[in-house]
Amino acid sequence: MTSELGRRIARRIAATGPMSIADFMAEALGHPTLGYYRRAMPLGTAGDFTTAPEISQMFGELLGAWLAERWQAIGRPAPVRLVELGPGRGTLMADALRATRGVAGFHDALDLHLVEVNAPLRVLQESALAAYTPTWHEALDAVPRGPLLLVANEFFDALPVRQFERTPQGWHERMVGLTPNGEHLVFALAPGPSPFARLLPETVRGGDLPAGTVAEVSVAAVDLAGRIAERLVKDGGWALIIDYGRDTSGTGATLQALRSHRSVDPLDRPGETDLTAHVDFATLAQAACTTGARVFGPTGQGTFLRRLGIERRAEILKARATPTQRSAIDAALLRLIDRDQMGTLFRVLAMGDDRSAAPAGFSDDT
Ligand SMILES: C[S@@+](CC[C@H](N)C(=O)[O-])C[C@H]1O[C@@H](n2cnc3c(N)ncnc32)[C@H](O)[C@@H]1O
Repeated sequence: MTSELGRRIARRIAATGPMSIADFMAEALGHPTLGYYRRAMPLGTAGDFTTAPEISQMFGELLGAWLAERWQAIGRPAPVRLVELGPGRGTLMADALRATRGVAGFHDALDLHLVEVNAPLRVLQESALAAYTPTWHEALDAVPRGPLLLVANEFFDALPVRQFERTPQGWHERMVGLTPNGEHLVFALAPGPSPFARLLPETVRGGDLPAGTVAEVSVAAVDLAGRIAERLVKDGGWALIIDYGRDTSGTGATLQALRSHRSVDPLDRPGETDLTAHVDFATLAQAACTTGARVFGPTGQGTFLRRLGIERRAEILKARATPTQRSAIDAALLRLIDRDQMGTLFRVLAMGDDRSAAPAGFSDDT
């Protein structure tokens, strides 16, 4: 038995034909009333997944220090738009702001904007951040122009991807269609080569690849990275994008679905299932560079947090903690930075205007 949204999508496909995976993702996650990010309370142990700021306060605190340092680096503009894309429970931003209370002038300069489509999460963000009087938006374009500090943790992985499969005739798009009895959603290959395959990175599209190879591209992610970078170049500022993904464009299908912390079929119960795909950081970096922005990374989350001093921060927290709390801090630290946990899979990319010095957390060659 599928979901209400699954039935609606099936009716639409029966009427108008198969849809791209990107259209399916956009509908499954963003449908105005039944989309996953419109209705569910996805985060936390009772939800479908947990995230770095929910694992430890250290994550938001260090990102706060990074943002405050970038504010100083761009000449302490006031106001500065502090923007978070997809703030979840507001935990990252609350920790970041608590940790930067002592930075002279920073909080007075801040104008906080949250880009969030989920109504239940907006309520949580409001209670976590009421003291900073945030303004909410459905999309970045609604945030007023001006110097910008932006952070996005696990936001880009929810943006729709298209998938293509190599055949002897060329790249065919993988679509979402229906089983012959019209009851179930299935993946199906479009019968002819797709003109949209030109959207794949040239390094992938032009490669000598065997039939059956699958490649993905997120036009929405590339477009958003370009728009952020354009604003940074015009108005000044810095952005930090953290997500799981890869540094160089490659092949392979990474679309995945989670429900209650378990991996499930991406086509099962749309609207009730979290859908994500690995972020192709090379395409984001290229989109940013094209605008003239400076780009640093991607580098591993573990390396980045170590360079920002997470081990020292853990020691400070442990000095005031009970033995049980100390073990929890150690476990959280490991989870965030260990290469077998989030340390390597999660990547960090910074982009900014070319008038300020290089940011912390990235070596000269990243
Ligand atoms: C995986 S959660 C990450 C939450 C938070 N950044 C964290 O690290 O805990 C994704 C967040 O982005 C929001 N979101 C997803 N798609 C969105 C979209 N298209 N526009 C605005 N917000 C979106 C979700 O509601 C949620 O707050």
